[in-house]
Amino acid sequence: MLYSPLNYQGNKSRIVDCLLSLLPQDVSSIREIFCGSAVFSFASDVNKVFLNDINIHITDLIRFFHDNSADEIIEQADNIIRHYGLTNTFYEGKQPYPEHRHEGLSNYNKAAFNRLKAAYNSDKDIAKLFVLSIYSFNHYLRFNSNDEFNVPVGKVDFVKTLREKTRSYCRAIRNKEIIISNYDFRSDELYCGVEKSTVYYFDPPYLITQAPYNLFWTEREEIDLLNLIDKLNASGYRFILSNVIESNGKRNDLLYEWMEKYNVKHIHRQYLNSSYQKKNISNADEVAISNF
Ligand SMILES: C[S@@+](CC[C@H](N)C(=O)[O-])C[C@H]1O[C@@H](n2cnc3c(N)ncnc32)[C@H](O)[C@@H]1O
Repeated sequence: MLYSPLNYQGNKSRIVDCLLSLLPQDVSSIREIFCGSAVFSFASDVNKVFLNDINIHITDLIRFFHDNSADEIIEQADNIIRHYGLTNTFYEGKQPYPEHRHEGLSNYNKAAFNRLKAAYNSDKDIAKLFVLSIYSFNHYLRFNSNDEFNVPVGKVDFVKTLREKTRSYCRAIRNKEIIISNYDFRSDELYCGVEKSTVYYFDPPYLITQAPYNLFWTEREEIDLLNLIDKLNASGYRFILSNVIESNGKRNDLLYEWMEKYNVKHIHRQYLNSSYQKKNISNADEVAISNF
């Protein structure tokens, strides 16, 4: 089990042990094509990992965690929190901040968060982006067309569990050899000259669930991905694809038919949907598809 302090939308922390149980012993490297916070690669004991994501901000954050110790990262975060006057209940306790209804700490942090957001959008300091991700709504990392961080303030601050996640994530990353890129998944660069002892891991946006990065994922992308994986399979490469087949009464029919020719592990689990207004639990059929 590995948790990332980024709480990145769609991260694989909850099912990573199940996914890792599929990984063969003789793997020389992992190529994670939609890496996000790369929980799968970092939780594995494979040393060499190629990480790709079209979103440069998430890969910049991975570099930040790779190149700095947990102590350095936590110290930088605490300095920023202090400088901008955000709450830090880890040190101050919760007493100074009585919470009203469902607002959590958002009212206390709104002005300071907006000042930090403006500073980050001007200097692009990666440590500031980490702090923004801690205090942002649902820990979203979202940018507008001018590449400005544009998520509103959330309800929580840099609590003990996030500090612990920072430490375990840094430990997991530290000794890995990582190679990072930011290509669209269809780019030839990701598939040229790759050794057969590599395993490809695909965790794309899901057609039938919601996340900020799902906006640009349509049936066109889904079909291109499935065709691409078929080609890798025909060329003798091994792959794992994780996805959701059914959620909230919706079914991904494209994937449902395509996956029949491969090995499918159903990771049935309850999926928590949360929003400010409601919390409900729905059944989702989450799968890991592989060709070995
Ligand atoms: C489900 S998330 C991956 C989460 C990851 N497994 C983790 O543990 O955090 C899907 C990722 O695909 C990326 N993505 C979306 N479209 C892409 C594309 N066309 N090419 C490459 N990456 C893309 C998104 O930026 C997002 O980080």
